[in-house]
Amino acid sequence: MSSEVYRASVPSNIAFLKYWGKSDPAKKWPTNNSLSMTLDKCRTSTSCFLDFSLSDFEIFYDGKKIKEGDFFQKIRKHLCFLKSTFDFPGFLRVETSNNFPTASGVASSASGFAALTLASVAAWTSSSTFLELSQEGFSIQKLSSLSRLGSGSACRSLLGGFVLWEKGPSPDEQRVKKISCDWPLMDILIVLKQGEKKLSSTEAHVRVPSSPLFSLRMSQIEEKQKDFEEALKEKNIKKLGALLEQEALEIHAVIMTAEKPFSYLLDETVAFLSWMRQLRQKGLAQVYFTLDAGSNVHVICEEREVSNFLSFLKRDFPNLAYIKDNVGKGPLLTSSKA
Ligand code: DP6
Repeated sequence: MSSEVYRASVPSNIAFLKYWGKSDPAKKWPTNNSLSMTLDKCRTSTSCFLDFSLSDFEIFYDGKKIKEGDFFQKIRKHLCFLKSTFDFPGFLRVETSNNFPTASGVASSASGFAALTLASVAAWTSSSTFLELSQEGFSIQKLSSLSRLGSGSACRSLLGGFVLWEKGPSPDEQRVKKISCDWPLMDILIVLKQGEKKLSSTEAHVRVPSSPLFSLRMSQIEEKQKDFEEALKEKNIKKLGALLEQEALEIHAVIMTAEKPFSYLLDETVAFLSWMRQLRQKGLAQVYFTLDAGSNVHVICEEREVSNFLSFLKRDFPNLAYIKDNVGKGPLLTSSKA
């Protein structure tokens, strides 16, 4: 029996160009390419230990054993899928935790499924490094595709920096690639509301193609991708910011006009976005927003704007919680004796 514990520490990511709608929902294959920034501080840490005395997976979240519920089922389903696809022997003891509050607006399914895939495959193949994993047939591309089957956005978390997820011609031919850009951007997540969102992003993906805006979005998406890539290459914050805000509002407009419409935006969200725009119009701070499927706001800016922005935030919203993060280098894999 292997006595090693394999530990993956994987950051979450924030999408600039959003994955919003699926061509193949069962395989979480997206309708369009997306582009994201991998975070640095907000991480999921997952350890896996192969224990042949177990007759099922043992899953611990934040130190507590879990045996039921949605979260447990999703993890177990993904592990069962990996085990049966690759005929991996034995069951794993899995311990996972996030270093950020759950349901705060940081995409925990992105970091979570990427960390689970990485740590479990490492344990099953006794691989302590990315090189060893690749020698066992599990390149980053492969691990990324497997993570996607847990949650689409997870596939982007296995690379650092700015990441393009290309859907490819079929669900088995997706690729993730790093965009060459060394721009130390920041993401300050403003937590306006904590708690489970009322519509999961998985359900939103099903609804969005029914919006009359969806085909218009699709007709412009390739152009938008090029614009995003250009803004990153030029390190042009004004250009990037305008694209970010347009894209964020667009995905919300799409879900708000779907056949079963839904709005994630709270009055507080709308008020915060307009406060940010005022700051900018007054020339006080060069900060731009993006939004995920939720009501919290991601403030994207250059490093030099942070203290300035935070001083206005504390002046006008003294009680608001926020999480300060930045572009990061991607996942880590380690192993140690049990
Ligand atoms: C708005 O990856 O959470 O954050 O594949 O169903 O798990 P599933 O969806 P998920 O969708 C993320 C949607 C988004 C945009 C993005 O991250 O690209």
